Amino acid sequence: MSLPSITPPPLTTSFTAKPTQPPIRQIPGSHGWPILGPLSDRLDYFWFQKPESFFRTRMEKYKSTVFRTNIPPTFPFFTSVNPNVIALLDCKAFSHLLDMDLVDKKDVLVGDFVPSVEFTGNIRVGVYRDVSDPQHSKSKQFSMQILKESSSIWVPELVSNLDIFLDQIEATLSTTSSASYMFPLQQFLFKFLFKVLAKADTSLDPKIAESGYSMLNKWLALQLLPTISIGKVQPLEELFLHSFSYPFSLVKGDYNNLYNFIQQHGKEVVKCGKEFGLSEDEAIHNLLFILGFNSYGGFSIFLPRLINTIASDSTGLQEKLREEAREKAGSTLGFDSLKNLELINSVVYETLRMNPPVPLQFGRARKDFQLTSNDSLFNIKKGELLCGYQKLVMRDPAVFDEPESFKPDRFTKEKGAELLNYLYWSNGPQSGSPSVANKQCAGKDIVTFTSALIVAHLLRRYDSIKGDGSSITLLTKAK
Ligand code: HEM
Repeated sequence: MSLPSITPPPLTTSFTAKPTQPPIRQIPGSHGWPILGPLSDRLDYFWFQKPESFFRTRMEKYKSTVFRTNIPPTFPFFTSVNPNVIALLDCKAFSHLLDMDLVDKKDVLVGDFVPSVEFTGNIRVGVYRDVSDPQHSKSKQFSMQILKESSSIWVPELVSNLDIFLDQIEATLSTTSSASYMFPLQQFLFKFLFKVLAKADTSLDPKIAESGYSMLNKWLALQLLPTISIGKVQPLEELFLHSFSYPFSLVKGDYNNLYNFIQQHGKEVVKCGKEFGLSEDEAIHNLLFILGFNSYGGFSIFLPRLINTIASDSTGLQEKLREEAREKAGSTLGFDSLKNLELINSVVYETLRMNPPVPLQFGRARKDFQLTSNDSLFNIKKGELLCGYQKLVMRDPAVFDEPESFKPDRFTKEKGAELLNYLYWSNGPQSGSPSVANKQCAGKDIVTFTSALIVAHLLRRYDSIKGDGSSITLLTKAK
């Protein structure tokens, strides 16, 4: 069957000076001895090197942006997981992951390891499904429809819930010198996202209002722990968090509470899922995943990084952003404000480039094909697992000038607009569009829009903000 495809965006000659066909090269690197190779790579990945330098040192060692390696989880209790991957670390190589003719996206959201389906009600939600699977199309359409229907309340709900969050931080700062904001931010995101995406008011259920966000945190952690580092003391993290999966039973009660809440209070949105051919059960589990994993999980990672960019600035960027937020966003913030906020948008994009919230993307070769990197051609065999590490991909010097530097205005003007073709945080170019024929994030535009609006709102409300990725130390109200 011929599948719909996205053609990888062409690299223009201004970015690459290699117009001729590059030479064919054997893929360097190796998966090592059984058990020992994967185990040694796992220890490097989580402990001795950490992901960025894990990929960087191998890229330098093999003098190649494409090489073989292993990605955890692995030995001893993940015996059914094959950790062998081919890493892709430049824009040209990475773009093959976006070509649905070449890669199969079934069950590769976090690599060869697949969290138990029990975490999603014993069904596979759309995010884990390939574009050739009719269930993917149903759930993708559902997600796009939810977003469409939320547009009329998105901005007022965002602003009013953001104000509640900021009032809370101000109150804390009135008694202490530093307000840690992660949990208040997550409470804000939880309430806001349930309201706009599920049309459900979390205050209707005291248990959900009080601890719904921590229920989601536990549910997310149990699924992802084998694949992420949480910075605990080693070797404890390796022994207790990366050696086996924790069972769904530990979070079953919480997940059922969230499920029941959506079933009772999110009826209108669940009905919409049924219109796309999902059963009620499938609609609720897909909605919970979109809400809890994609939206709440994604923003919980990204917003602290964005706040850090603004609040820890000492270069005068905050003043420039404040000026733009006050002079160009109009009297009331809304979707229309966005097009005038060139610098704010660029800062959001640059933060996503430097620190993509979902750094790893996977795809399994559907067939044998030749993969082109910036300087070589490689033969890929059907069934091999390709692994793009966006954090280095989006620092490709063939595309981005001074790739390791944070340049706030990088994405402004004509050249900035062209660079959006290589901003891949959403599993597709920022210039692309999510559809049933691809696996690009359905929330791609609303994520950048919401982030830009949060920056604009913060800088209209305050003359000065100081802090970092976890605490706020100063909020000076606008005079
Ligand atoms: C900062 C927030 C977000 C980040 C960082 C993010 C990132 C991503 C990424 C990287 C993927 C592709 C995963 C893969 O297949 O490899 C994805 C998929 C997806 N995202 Fe987002 N996302 C965010 C917010 C949202 C929101 C608000 C929605 C709301 C509808 C959403 C809905 C989806 C859906 C439905 C998919 C699956 C697409 C498909 O299966 O075709 N995401 N997201």
